[in-house]
Amino acid sequence: PPSLKGRDCLALSDYTPGEVESLLALALEGKEKLKKGEAWHPLSGKTLAMIFDKPSTRTRVSFEAGMAQLGGHPLALNRQELQLGRGESTADTAQILSGFVDAILIRTHWHSDVKELASYASIPVINGLTDLHHPCQALADLLTLKETKGKLAGLKLAYVGDGNNVLHSLLEAGALTGMHVAAAFPPGYEPDESIVQQAELIAQKTGGMVTWTHDPAEAVAGADAVYTDVWASMGQEEEKEKRMKDFVGYQVDPIMMAKAKSDALFLHCLPAYRGLEVAAEVIDGPQSAVFRQAENRLHAQKALLVMLLGD
Ligand code: CP
Repeated sequence: PPSLKGRDCLALSDYTPGEVESLLALALEGKEKLKKGEAWHPLSGKTLAMIFDKPSTRTRVSFEAGMAQLGGHPLALNRQELQLGRGESTADTAQILSGFVDAILIRTHWHSDVKELASYASIPVINGLTDLHHPCQALADLLTLKETKGKLAGLKLAYVGDGNNVLHSLLEAGALTGMHVAAAFPPGYEPDESIVQQAELIAQKTGGMVTWTHDPAEAVAGADAVYTDVWASMGQEEEKEKRMKDFVGYQVDPIMMAKAKSDALFLHCLPAYRGLEVAAEVIDGPQSAVFRQAENRLHAQKALLVMLLGD
């Protein structure tokens, strides 16, 4: 496959449509190899340092398992275990880790911290979620849609909920692959304007489209997939009460799903809160692809690691 050797993955828009296509093709190939029990160890001798400032189940375990399956060594760390937690600078940490390991995965609060880390590191830096982007999640989402629907270009992906990091990465993912991303969010929960503009610019070149509304029914109408995320993300716990009121009418329930195509998928990056952003009948029902979507984190990220680090 074409190489992304030495590059970072801070946002999906770091990549071209062709590079995203190659990542998805390699992810499908790797998934097939794993299912057949074929060995695939292109990262033998490579080490991935993983820094987590926030809790994680899927990102932490899928990167750790993926790196091990590829023959490499994952090293899970949190800020408090590092001198970073005692005030050592991001710049110094980036340069030190660059001398020890082959890539850094980081989940932290501010996207600007990850950009700073990447600017001082001489090795690839992968964003495992920041306030602005969740590119690894969006790659897995694309993979799930591609293997279920057989194509991406021309699909309508409806997103109902908070205009957050997950929506930002979906906007870029959809634009890069020629999809129509139709977002519905309450007033006051708009996505970042510059990311929307960036996605619109990409979509103009790929035949994709970005639209938004405050009416979930409009976004979901005729959609091939309906996606939602938690109403109060990590770090927004104190806003929970207000958010519960502001998001009334945004729950993905069977009535909302019925407005999408009859074979529409339900997607959620997880963790999910049944009875809030999604009804239990939907997430536990036949249209839900959430566990396949979570499993695809492993395959999408293995492809990413191989393209960033492989020889
Ligand atoms: N979707 C996601 O990133 O899950 P974790 O927070 O468990 O990593």
